Amino acid sequence: MKTIIEPFRIKSVEPIYFNTKEERKEILKKAACNPFLIDSKDVLIDLLTDSGTSAMSSLQWAGIMKGDESYAGSPSFYEFKKAVQDITHMPQIIPTHQGRASEKILFSITGGKGKYFLSNTLFDTTRANIEFSGAEGIDLLCEEGKKPTVPAPFKGNMDIEALRKLS
Ligand SMILES: Cc1ncc(COP(=O)(O)O)c(C=O)c1O
Repeated sequence: MKTIIEPFRIKSVEPIYFNTKEERKEILKKAACNPFLIDSKDVLIDLLTDSGTSAMSSLQWAGIMKGDESYAGSPSFYEFKKAVQDITHMPQIIPTHQGRASEKILFSITGGKGKYFLSNTLFDTTRANIEFSGAEGIDLLCEEGKKPTVPAPFKGNMDIEALRKLS
């Protein structure tokens, strides 16, 4: 594997607490091994999510100061809209503050009883929003993806045969 250095400088530091193996065992026991019940202050490396855990670039920080957050008609919105349209080519853009909020909007329109949503593995909030709408979410992960101890080049593929059977 080719290793490159990170092509940026990280300018901020945040102290984190290194807990001991014994403390981690206790934390896991108290949370019944459910990562949603672990306090973020007890987590050294967060593999549950990338949401809100990464550093912002200098341009992102500067953007906060440069941005015009007027309630309506703000140039920041038009800039955002154009960037998203350039990528997606979608005519309508609805900004949302979080992924889970977007899913709530999406599945309240596309979901409902008798509908099915197929995925390799649905993200937890995606499944929750699908099921809340009355629809059913179905995971069709390939066999190698279900076996943590079996090495494979990519474990996120859809099980195409299972997908064919369902469609
Ligand atoms: C499909 C999907 N939904 C929701 C989220 C969560 O995003 P947020 O924390 O912005 O709600 C993620 C995060 O990776 C995601 O991949």
